[in-house]
Amino acid sequence: MVKNFAHRGFSGKFPENTLLAFEKAIEAGADGAELDVQLTKDGEVVIIHDETIDRTTNGKGYVVNYTYEELSKFDASYIYTGKLGFNKIPTLREYFELIKNLDFITNIELKTGINEYLGIEEKVHNLIKEYKLEKRVIISSFNHFSVLRMKKIAPELKYGFLSEDWIINAGAYTASHGVECYHPRFNNLIPEVVKELKENGLEINTWTVNKEEDIKDLINKKVDILIGNFPDLTRKIINENK
Ligand code: G3P
Ligand code: MG
Repeated sequence: MVKNFAHRGFSGKFPENTLLAFEKAIEAGADGAELDVQLTKDGEVVIIHDETIDRTTNGKGYVVNYTYEELSKFDASYIYTGKLGFNKIPTLREYFELIKNLDFITNIELKTGINEYLGIEEKVHNLIKEYKLEKRVIISSFNHFSVLRMKKIAPELKYGFLSEDWIINAGAYTASHGVECYHPRFNNLIPEVVKELKENGLEINTWTVNKEEDIKDLINKKVDILIGNFPDLTRKIINENK
């Protein structure tokens, strides 16, 4: 059956990529979460979407220019104007502490598209090994070089190529690198793309699926994972379409 993943946690109603958003995703019945990782100045793997903290916190500047101690002083829920208290930018370690004993899968997106963050793949791998989460993670990135770098050091994990482009023969391309999953923007999943991906044995994990009609359409197309901002809505529609 199709799986329900919370995009940046339950980001439709809670501050994205915070522990609160991940807790709320679990409560809403998500099977897993997608999250974005970057590196701080002192090499900590942190969960944040943008290269800067400007959009999602009350601070300014690049993640890579702050140590984690400095970064943790900023409020990643400031747009909720104090209604949700203070929520810091979490580390990947803190997130793993939250989910380590749960039946919950994590799609870790390596945000290596703008800053390559050389060495991030090894750091993420070390944390996965420490928490014994090898069977409960999927590693993806728009930077396919980064995916292959990590696959080389951690061949035991599952990987996905992310894309928001209209790529021809994406399934053949992805499979030729031994990558098991393709993570397209959902609008790109026209029938011939779905067919080619399935012919190549790819798992289809698609984003960002927020509307009822799109969720239903993609269930009919038999995708594997729906990544969306409203895991409560996705859960409801999956349950109604069993
Ligand atoms: O991993 C799926 C999706 O999160 C990719 O785009 O920009 O939301 O990280 P973005
Ligand atoms: Mg992402």
